[in-house]
Amino acid sequence: MNPTLNVSRGAKYSRMLGVGGYRPRRVVDNAEIITYIDSSDEWIRTRSGITERRWASDDETVSMMSQAAARKAMERAGVEPGQIDTVIVSTVTHLHQTPAIATTIASELGAKNAAAFDISAACAGFCYGTAMADSFIRTGASKYVLVIGVERLSDLTDKHDRSTAFIFADGAGAAVIGPSDTPAIGPVVWGSDGDQADLIVQNEPWTTAMDGSAHDDGEPHWPSLRMNGNPVFKWASYTMAKTAAEAMDAAGVRPEDLEVFVPHQANMRITDAMFKALKLPAGVVVARDIARTGNTSAASIPLAIEALLESGEAHSGQTALIIGFGAGLVYAGQVILLP
Ligand code: UT7
Repeated sequence: MNPTLNVSRGAKYSRMLGVGGYRPRRVVDNAEIITYIDSSDEWIRTRSGITERRWASDDETVSMMSQAAARKAMERAGVEPGQIDTVIVSTVTHLHQTPAIATTIASELGAKNAAAFDISAACAGFCYGTAMADSFIRTGASKYVLVIGVERLSDLTDKHDRSTAFIFADGAGAAVIGPSDTPAIGPVVWGSDGDQADLIVQNEPWTTAMDGSAHDDGEPHWPSLRMNGNPVFKWASYTMAKTAAEAMDAAGVRPEDLEVFVPHQANMRITDAMFKALKLPAGVVVARDIARTGNTSAASIPLAIEALLESGEAHSGQTALIIGFGAGLVYAGQVILLP
């Protein structure tokens, strides 16, 4: 007869205990962008809400930015590196297929022997990571989880491509998630739509880049991201508003209960459209970090939360809706209490 297996049991609830961010030093304004593409400051500001973004310098690697963000998150959470038992890094711009960047980040931070792995869930990555952390903590697989969203999208952006050059940017955001006596992370509503996978893609595989061939202009092959922005814009503005409403329903939170709204910082007009579709009260604080940060994919939500907390616009303990959506297409949203 088979023995009855012990199963692990964790904390009743989980909570985001601290967030931290890293913004690269170099500020790239729209005046610089329009030296690369046929556009204007006015078009970029009115169509996307972006006035400036950060592009990483050579020393601001995926690992360096992650560690800087993570140290701030751990300090604010009051959690020592040695207490972190799980590190999840969401990125699509760690340019080595293996090993995962999470293992060296864990090691260099001092989270020795932590379970560590990368996930590829594009702009939904921080919310995917938060959902996993919540589950791991409640099953007992983990106690303190470090979730990092980090991108150096400038490495994969063709700065002469009119559809993407003004939008994508670099940065890192991190959160420490740990056990809680009271509910502080609501159920995730997540999913994917692979039928629309071709809307945001790396235009060629690394194998093409490595074959040594050159483009007609003599430039060596280097893959870059391509986006068919308008269908993504419509999908994000309408379908994602429904997902966000489902996440609020799942948590038992009505629009009038919500205090803070932090959507993925993809486009200011998407944020406005979602706000309207969700019928959120005018007093809800809305993250508008995209104006100075651009679209940093997996990093955008933790960076925006940090900005709201640092500016005093939002406060610890407030009820916030977070939702990420992007290449895949993938999406995930949940209601959390702010750290
Ligand atoms: O983070 C992952 C998920 N990503 C997103 O959620 C991004 C979603 N998409 C978007 O944010 C928007 O689609 C963009 C900001 C990328 C583009 O805005 P849009 O309102 O969808 O523009 P469009 O592609 O429909 O183009 C409108 C016009 C066109 O000109 P005509 O045909 O109306 O004369 C384009 O040729 O704007 C023109 N255009 C530009 N003009 C100046 C397109 N790109 C540019 C540009 N500068 N960079």
